[in-house]
Amino acid sequence: MIKYRAKIDSLGNYVPKKIVNNFDLEKMVDTSDEWIRVRTGMFERHFADETEAASDLAYKAAENAIYNSNTTRHKDIQMIIVGTISADHPFPSAACILQNKLGLKDIPAFDISAGCTGFIYTIDIAKQYIENGICDTILVVGVEVLTKLINWTDRGTCVLFGDGAGAAIIKRAESNDISQIIGSKITADASEWELLQQKAGGSRLPASHETVDQNLHTVYMEGNKIFKHAVKSMYNVTMDVIKEHNMSLKDIDWIIPHQANMRIIESLADRLKAPKEKVVVTIERFGNTSSSTIPIAMTEAIKANQIKRGDIVLLTAFGAGLTYGSTLIRY
Ligand code: ACO
Repeated sequence: MIKYRAKIDSLGNYVPKKIVNNFDLEKMVDTSDEWIRVRTGMFERHFADETEAASDLAYKAAENAIYNSNTTRHKDIQMIIVGTISADHPFPSAACILQNKLGLKDIPAFDISAGCTGFIYTIDIAKQYIENGICDTILVVGVEVLTKLINWTDRGTCVLFGDGAGAAIIKRAESNDISQIIGSKITADASEWELLQQKAGGSRLPASHETVDQNLHTVYMEGNKIFKHAVKSMYNVTMDVIKEHNMSLKDIDWIIPHQANMRIIESLADRLKAPKEKVVVTIERFGNTSSSTIPIAMTEAIKANQIKRGDIVLLTAFGAGLTYGSTLIRY
């Protein structure tokens, strides 16, 4: 039984200053600007420096989201949820460290490990807490510093990732609000979870000299198998959410898919029969920043005056797990 409606009140993002483009990568690994552009659509990505960890990026994105909200003060935040697979430490959570950086206390703070679908998972959870009346203001963040988990001997993955963070203030919608999270679905199919993982550093394969020597603390991905799952999963979960709310693709003003590969984005748009003007794409500038691609892209589209209050926006992502999900909002 839904007591209240939730809305995205504001967003903010942050990317580290250092920019690494395809020509820089050509000097580091056996690759080419042409291969990266044609196969992925990427040109630049941002790299955290040696002093920056996930909570540092998350903090800056969170402060920007709070600044962009007319109605939220730090003390109003009642819960912090962070989607990340590259937290500062295996424990405690990046969300707890973020709570401390924001000067907050005595509120729940936890991380969600859902790979690139992390931000969609955080919104879905925040929505439940607001709809059932337990909270009225929640900070959600997607943040990743995957460049510190890259295997530089695997050219199939090392060119793909960038670092960044995106945050949103999720609030209870008032009865006269046009903004609303209309619907959301999160799910996972773990039958092929091995395709995308960090093999060592957990309880299955604890850190040892051998695991370090074999680069097992880095991102392992069977990219072309993942590719095939990505389009199908995002299409299916998107259609589920749209149909559940008796809407059609014609009602959608903007689609923001996870930015992992331009060919995945184009195939998804083709299946959805979405004109390319409706699809928000930032992959050329930021690469794959995993759980933060969607809030980064949405913040950029708002800043560019593309997405406006009242627009219907569809978010969809796919990632490690294998997880996937979609969120339908009226911004
Ligand atoms: N530069 C030059 N050549 C390369 C590079 C590179 N960086 N990487 C691979 N190649 C070569 C390969 O060696 C191979 O050569 P061969 O044909 O001589 O053997 C050829 O290019 C093709 O390799 P594929 O791996 O088949 O390339 P593909 O077209 O599948 O593209 C990619 C690879 C970009 C990784 C793609 O599969 C992809 O985007 N997959 C999905 C990624 C994704 O969605 N991940 C989910 C989210 S990530 C997360 O949750 C953390």
